[in-house]
Order: sequence, then C-alpha cells, then structure tokens
Amino acid sequence: MTAQAHTLLLFGATGDLSRRMLLPSLCALHAEGLVPEDLRIVGTARSEMSDGEFRNFSRDALEKFLPAERRGGVADFLNRLHYQQLDVTTPEGYKELAKQAGPGEDVAIFLSTAPSLFKPTIEGLQAAGLAGEGARISLEKPLGNDLASSCEINDAVASAFPEERIFRIDHYLGKETVQNLLALRFANLMFEPLWRSQYIDHVQITVAETVGLESRVDFYDDAGALRDMVQNHMLQLLALVAMEPPSSFSANAVRDEKVKVLRALRPVSADEVVTGQYRGGASSGKIVPGYDEELGRDSDTETFVALKAHVDNWRWRGVPFYMRTGKRLHERVTEIVVQFKSVPHSIFEGAKMSANKLVIGIQPTENVQLNLMAKVPGIDQEGMVLRPVPLDIAMPDAFSGKVKRIAYERLLLDLIHGDQTLFVRRDEVEAQWKWIDAIRETWAKEGITPRTYAAGSWGPSAAIALAERDGVSWHE
Ligand code: BG6
Repeated sequence: MTAQAHTLLLFGATGDLSRRMLLPSLCALHAEGLVPEDLRIVGTARSEMSDGEFRNFSRDALEKFLPAERRGGVADFLNRLHYQQLDVTTPEGYKELAKQAGPGEDVAIFLSTAPSLFKPTIEGLQAAGLAGEGARISLEKPLGNDLASSCEINDAVASAFPEERIFRIDHYLGKETVQNLLALRFANLMFEPLWRSQYIDHVQITVAETVGLESRVDFYDDAGALRDMVQNHMLQLLALVAMEPPSSFSANAVRDEKVKVLRALRPVSADEVVTGQYRGGASSGKIVPGYDEELGRDSDTETFVALKAHVDNWRWRGVPFYMRTGKRLHERVTEIVVQFKSVPHSIFEGAKMSANKLVIGIQPTENVQLNLMAKVPGIDQEGMVLRPVPLDIAMPDAFSGKVKRIAYERLLLDLIHGDQTLFVRRDEVEAQWKWIDAIRETWAKEGITPRTYAAGSWGPSAAIALAERDGVSWHE
C-alpha cells in the first residue's frame, strides 16, 4: 500500500468518462468528506482552457450527472480543480504539469485517454519526474485489443511504474453488489460447502443492455461484444464466483485466486459459442435502427455473444458457466445465477420439485435471492404440496439509507489511498486476453459470423438453443 495522494492528475479531463463518471464521483466523495482535505485535482487535455473554464465545465457535468442530493459543497469542490493544457505527445508540457503536482509529492495519475496515447504519456511523465516513488497510475480500458497489444501497453507502463503502483480499472469491480459477492461467499459459512460441482449444476452470467452503439461508433465496431464486455467485466464476474477463498482480503491474495481461475478456463469450441448482431426493432418502447444502419455500413462485428465456459479444476469439473451479453436486448439486467442440483431423492411423492437457485442481481436491481422449496399452507388429502419461494435479501431495503454510488467512487478513492484490491493485475489481464484470442481464432478458422437478432429480443435463437440442448433455460 502506497501513501495517500495529495494530487490527482486527470488525463482526458474534458472527455466523456470524466464528465459522466469521474468528476461526479470525485464531487460525491468530496461532499461526504472522504477525500483528503488537501487533495488538488489537476485536469489536463489538449484544448486550451483556464482554471475558471474547467470549473465551469465541471459544474455543468455535476449538474447533469450527479443527483442534486449528492451535490454538497460544490463551490469548495470546484476550488480543488485546476487545469493544465497538454499535448501528451510533446515533452515540454509535462514540466508545467510537474509544477502543478508539486515536487516529490504523492500523486495519483488517471489516464482516461485513447490507449494509443498511453506510451507517449508515460514517457512524458517519467521524463518530468512524475513517475517517482509516490506516484501511482491508473489505466482505463481498453487495455489492448488482443494479448500482443495488451502486452505492449503493459510493457510501456512497467518501464516507468512497478506493478504495485499500476491500477488497472475494471469498473465492474467498483460496483456494490459485485463486492457483495465476496461478502456473500466468504463471510457466510453456509454457501462454501455447497459451492462446488457436487452440488452446483451450472452458473449463468448475464450482462444485457438495451442501449445500442451510442456515440462510440469506431471504438465499438473495432472491439465487438466479446472484447468490450466478456474479456473484462464478465470474466471478472466469473473469477469472483469461481475463485477459492483467499487467505485475506488483501490485493495480492484476492488476485492470486482470481488469476488461477482465469488460467484454468478451457478453450471454447466452435459449438459452444453464438454471436449475433442486432437488426432494427422495438427497444424500450421505441423503434430503433439496426446496427449496420446506425453504423452507416455493413459490418461483421458482433453486438451479442453467448458462450459456455468451463473452469478446469477440481471444484468446477463438469459445471458449465453460461455467459451472455449484448446490446439492444430485451431489458437492462446484470445478474449471476447459481443453479444448484436437485435433491438426490424426493420423499414428497407427486410433488413437483425445483432445485435451489441463488440469483445475485447486480443491476439495475441490487438484490440477492435464494429460491427454496416450501410447503404450501393448508391440508391436502393427496399429500404435501410444495412450491419454490424466493427468500429475498433486497439490498436497498436491508440497507435503507445507504446511497447508490457510482462504481468509480470506490475505485478513485482506492487509487488515492493506494489500495489495489479492486484493480486488475497484469497476469489477470493477460490470462483474460489469452482465452479471448483463442475464441477469436476459432471464429476465424470456422468462419463464424454473427447471426441476426431483432432489437428488443434476447438475442439469436441459437443462443437459447445453446443452453437448451443441455436442458438449461436462461433465467428471466
Ligand atoms: C463498458 C463498455 O466497459 O461497460 C460499454 O465499453 C458498456 O459498451 C458498459 O455499455 C456497461 O457498463 P455498465 O456499468 O453500464 O453496466
């Protein structure tokens, strides 16, 4: 753990992520008195701007993206903000930036810029003495678009910063219910003995979105759903579900266990994956255009992926992990479903039994639900009547009064404090890419191209068949 930072350098400060997430998160933390009192936030970007103009820009962002009830002390927050124009590819500008950070200070650097700029930025930071011992650096995805390009980025960062001071963001790790998954698994005794192939039939991970391309046309068309969502967020969710109990809640203990899972992923065969691309349809009550119409050209990029993954180790032998993600799907929902096996023998003759199921809702509803069998009250001549009943731990109710946070709040605070537990280590990213690259190679070799699906549906019918041929239905 490094010391608390007193300066936060925000590269790409006028960009979309900064406006929607980073500035609102920092202001919310400030309002709650969670950031160090003397924290200065220095925004940098290519455009010319005075401190005053950057503060105006930030005020607009807060009004738009931070709920009014969380906007306390805005004037004081804005006073923390400074701005330094910088073309990251020219070394001169970094000297000014170094003055802003103060010599030898503990500084947190957040790169929210195109990955093609990471390398020159890191060189500039190093030359200006901004990569010293108190400095830590945080990187936003995409960290490459395959293993080779990811290694290039990782090498460039490693040439100036040791791994203990590199904070790779996967914003899903900042989500409250994702962290709660760790609490559920490792702060309760009752799940652990059952958390294995002997008792679990399969796991489902769904990250469904209703949005389409939004404004990120070129980025998304280069990436596609597999690299945009599965490589990072979904594999992190899978790793948290499948990992062994770490010996402590420390950064390396947690990440050691996650990486073992990622390395144990079996290569996916061609018949275990389905890709899709949306056509026009009705989504969230609106008629929306198809992907190629939004893009303005034909494309083979997948906006949907469903696949069946296997973790080849003792605990998970024979337990499929069905994963699906896509744009313009029927509803916005992120959830993990752990489907237990049926009881080995039913003593309730004639009763229709359902196996237990644990549903962890990540968004939009944060909830944990355990489906149990129970007796329907009443006297029945024919024998006991049973029915599955959900045992709900509705998070907002159980913890009413707790605010709904932006995932970046937790992550920015951990960056400032130097705690890497919720950040992704190099070996994790590389194991993730290795598995993803192999899937893409299979697509290329087998000539797999996306099937079409109507916007507002649950994806191509082949994705439903992928699970159904194993007797499994996707949870809805
Ligand atoms: C991003 C992807 O990483 O995650 C986007 O690039 C996606 O395509 C987003 O929309 C989803 O994040 P969330 O927090 O809204 O589920």
